[in-house]
Amino acid sequence: MSEAINIDDFRIRARQRLPRVVFDYLEGAAEDESCLRRNRQALEAWHLRPSVLRNTATVDTSVELLGHRFALPLAIAPTGLNGLIWPDGDVALARAAGKANIPFAMSTASNARLERIPVEAGGVNWYQLYVMGARDLAERMMRRASDAGFAALLVTVDVPVSGHRERDLRNGFRLPLRYTPKLICDAALHPRWLFGLLRGGTPTFANLSDPQAGPASAQTHAALLSRAMDRTLDWASLDWVRRHWSRPVLLKGVLDPEDARRAIDHGVDAIIVSNHGGRQLDAAQATIDVLPEIIAAVKDRVPVLVDSGFRRGSEVVKALALGAKAVLLGRAALYGLAAAGATGVAEVIRILSEEMVRTMTLIGARSIAEITPDRVVRASA
Ligand code: FNR
Repeated sequence: MSEAINIDDFRIRARQRLPRVVFDYLEGAAEDESCLRRNRQALEAWHLRPSVLRNTATVDTSVELLGHRFALPLAIAPTGLNGLIWPDGDVALARAAGKANIPFAMSTASNARLERIPVEAGGVNWYQLYVMGARDLAERMMRRASDAGFAALLVTVDVPVSGHRERDLRNGFRLPLRYTPKLICDAALHPRWLFGLLRGGTPTFANLSDPQAGPASAQTHAALLSRAMDRTLDWASLDWVRRHWSRPVLLKGVLDPEDARRAIDHGVDAIIVSNHGGRQLDAAQATIDVLPEIIAAVKDRVPVLVDSGFRRGSEVVKALALGAKAVLLGRAALYGLAAAGATGVAEVIRILSEEMVRTMTLIGARSIAEITPDRVVRASA
């Protein structure tokens, strides 16, 4: 197979290696998947304006974020069920992130116990919290994540109900994985994936298999399986989170400037502009299009991060020019994971890093601070 030279090459490899049912879970989005497409189209609709003759002999991509210095303005987004994509997928992602000196966010729906991550991967890790009814269990998870050394809590708030993922419905993809004739045939045609699964065992929600948590654990387990979140969550709930977590809180899933302002008043330390990669509200705006309004509303009070649709270093540069501090990688990292485990994720990060450096050189930006708003323009309709 020829060398993978961009993220789309990794996507093709991921599609080849994974059974259709699993690839569709990774790749799919809500309803007509129009938000998924819109994220990509909107990124293309922003253009970069180079500034020439600026001596770009050295280019520095490092950034300071929430008290840490990172090599790149990138982070690995929280994704559930990574163990289905690669054996011990959470640890593989975290290791690649640690080596590249970028943060790794671990999902509530992870397949590895959270305590393993800081020990086995090093680096700076964030814990992503879904609140699913049993508040005492969420409190336990926050305590465990804090004791284990997670540097920040990422609270995802765009899943009051699960988006309607029609690929999953058509494929009969549900949890726990049912070995239907369709899945068995699909798996048999993807032996490398199947051997990995047999070696690593069927992934479970490892963080919730916690005998000490008792019935609350079983309840949350069931909620995670049906992706049923606590719909009573409101701004007071955010204050409750704030009381139980002393390190930085990032609020993930913000698309409204007024919500961003309100979140800061409720003590969050960073905002993540996200539409969950198009997996929730199919009618949602592209994140790059709402970013300027949110940046204006936040007025530098806290850092603003963004995700959903990023597949090129130049796209990361566009988001930075619009005022974002960093970009989270969801599917891009998972394509690398599906193709070649930690090595694949490392390659994805390297490719994006090289693309960023090349783009920065071409637009005359020697540092992240030099990626200024005048470098980006929206194509006229
Ligand atoms: C996700 N995402 C997600 N977000 C979250 O807060 N908790 C989670 O458990 C998951 N799980 C998950 C699984 C898979 C397979 C995907 C693709 C995504 C959303 C994720 O954090 C991020 O917001 C999007 O993936 C960003 O869009 P791109 O980069 O995938 O286009």
